[in-house]
Amino acid sequence: MMLHIILLEAAIELVPSELTSLKEIQKHSHKRKRRPNEILLDQSNHGRSMTRLEDGDRRGRPDIVLFSLQSLLETPLCKAGLLSMHIQLQDGRIVEVHPEVRLPRNHDRFVGLMEQLLLKGQVPPTGDPLLKIINKSLSELVSFLKGNSVDAITLLAIEGGQKIDMTSLVEMYPSEREVPVILGVGAFPHGDFQGNARDVFETHIELDHDVMMAWHVCSEVLWTYSLKHEIIAKRYSEA
Ligand SMILES: C[S@@+](CC[C@H](N)C(=O)[O-])C[C@H]1O[C@@H](n2cnc3c(N)ncnc32)[C@H](O)[C@@H]1O
Repeated sequence: MMLHIILLEAAIELVPSELTSLKEIQKHSHKRKRRPNEILLDQSNHGRSMTRLEDGDRRGRPDIVLFSLQSLLETPLCKAGLLSMHIQLQDGRIVEVHPEVRLPRNHDRFVGLMEQLLLKGQVPPTGDPLLKIINKSLSELVSFLKGNSVDAITLLAIEGGQKIDMTSLVEMYPSEREVPVILGVGAFPHGDFQGNARDVFETHIELDHDVMMAWHVCSEVLWTYSLKHEIIAKRYSEA
């Protein structure tokens, strides 16, 4: 698998202990018939409570991961077995996404899956995992994905990076598809990277002068990479 996408500092977490006693959270968890610390923090349900969090504007947005994964999964590149996906949670833990997972289209059902992932460590809780928390840091993951390729490229999508359009992006990808391309994209709604992403990824790229949605960045890279390697033409000729 030669294109690796890592959704960075994803705004996915269980309700933190400092909010569990608040009325809005209690009411919602009661409705869901779960303990407050077993439900996912979600801006759309807990917006008022989240104003108490210092960095509340970059947390509680599971939809960003859902939309980003939906824009990657089940695409021709993914079906060709040339795509891998990981999620870095805001506490630094890494989630491995099985390329054949079919995620629910429905937001509430996706939230349920993420809760199971955070509480049990994998989905489904037994058997072959479709989503799994793995024991690697971001830099360990990136060096693992690079393998022993000296030509591997690591790209960080970031405002203020090297300005690049789609044609130049296609040219930037290595011609041999065995050479890994590893892309990091922020999966939080506002602000900058707080962890070590800037150091872990060597080349920083800006894809537009405006802020883009994380899932648009994922799509742009997926489709330009697919074009570079003539993925669809190859799938036609193999069929
Ligand atoms: C919605 S942005 C998040 C943060 C953004 N700085 C803000 O304050 O709204 C999500 C992610 O998409 C990527 N991104 C957004 N705009 C971009 C651009 N113009 N070029 C490259 N990547 C971009 C970055 O990886 C960013 O972390």
